[in-house]
Amino acid sequence: MHSYIQQNISLKNFNTFGIDVNAKYFVSVNNVAQLKEVLQLDHYPDKFVLGGGSNMLLTKDIDTLVIHINIKGKDILKQDNDHVVVRCMAGENWHDFVLWSIDHDFGGLENMSLIPGNVGTAPIQNIGAYGTELKDTFLQCKAIELSTGKTRVFSNHDCKFGYRNSIFKNELKGKYIICSVDFKLTTGSHTVKTSYGAIESELQKNAITNPSIKDVSNAVIAIRQSKLPDPKELGNSGSFFKNPIVSKTVFRAFITKHPDAPYYTVSESEVKIPAGWLIEQAGFKGKRFGDAGVHRNQALVLVNYGKASGHEIWELAKKIKRSVKEEFGIDIEAEVNVI
Ligand code: EPU
Repeated sequence: MHSYIQQNISLKNFNTFGIDVNAKYFVSVNNVAQLKEVLQLDHYPDKFVLGGGSNMLLTKDIDTLVIHINIKGKDILKQDNDHVVVRCMAGENWHDFVLWSIDHDFGGLENMSLIPGNVGTAPIQNIGAYGTELKDTFLQCKAIELSTGKTRVFSNHDCKFGYRNSIFKNELKGKYIICSVDFKLTTGSHTVKTSYGAIESELQKNAITNPSIKDVSNAVIAIRQSKLPDPKELGNSGSFFKNPIVSKTVFRAFITKHPDAPYYTVSESEVKIPAGWLIEQAGFKGKRFGDAGVHRNQALVLVNYGKASGHEIWELAKKIKRSVKEEFGIDIEAEVNVI
């Protein structure tokens, strides 16, 4: 046993759902060299990688070695009149990084303010909000292969980004640990995106007509705070489900029955239907079952009122999924990783 490996650590403070499961072995790594050293420890053949813990539901104790990625640092790699390339290490908190970029007047991340989690896990599910996705500013990332300890650089194209999706959720699932992410952001002249959701009305409320990136960030923060629970106060993992994407044929039948439903056209053949609306219509919004519940302001968010187990939350999720299927004939899939 290595001296820096801790034993029997509660992961309650390491996942935003606040689920109390036990890690048999645990190590927090602060730099890439330490991470590579830990990966070589033959004594623990299986490893479980933990970032910000904001997109997972832990339903059982972890008997393998938990590696907490706590690698910090931000660097400006190059800058000209139009753009800057910034490198951010994986263990930095996402929102702190967004605020740092805004303080430097670097544009492109402002619509993704206040998303929980760390920078290193953001590419895995291609985080997104208010009309912007990580892939819009992502240049490349450096990742280490768990089985060999070798470093590989992934370009934007290599990552195969999709809606809440990437290569790291599919063919390379569990195979790489992202150590740093490079972003290409704007300097000087920014293109602010305000057309999505409630951003415009939030800006109007404050009489802002020519918004800066800081104004957009503040508007997004205000909207998110009004709808989404703060994990520090109420355990949650953001949107629990993905918004389902259905074929035009399925959509036509659906909208005829439910003419008031909101939807977004994704392509010529597909339409996205907000899962939050489906769950609300199925009667779950604000409902509580023991300590597991559905948030009262946003039905897509499941919450832990204190002592819910991961199993209880997962049972509630399955119950919701069944009801939505029964009522609308539409399958909704979890966005969070269920472990
Ligand atoms: N809606 C309801 N009832 C609800 C919730 C939503 O009817 O309880 C309706 C809303 O009225 C609206 C539509 O559903 O017409 C969409 O709602 P909203 O704008 O709140 O966004 P969302 O589709 O529920 C997605 C992302 C969020 C992101 C917001 C804003 C997914 C799975 N979720 O939610 O991301 O913040 O858009 O861009 O795509 C996350 O991934 O963790 C997350 C919070």
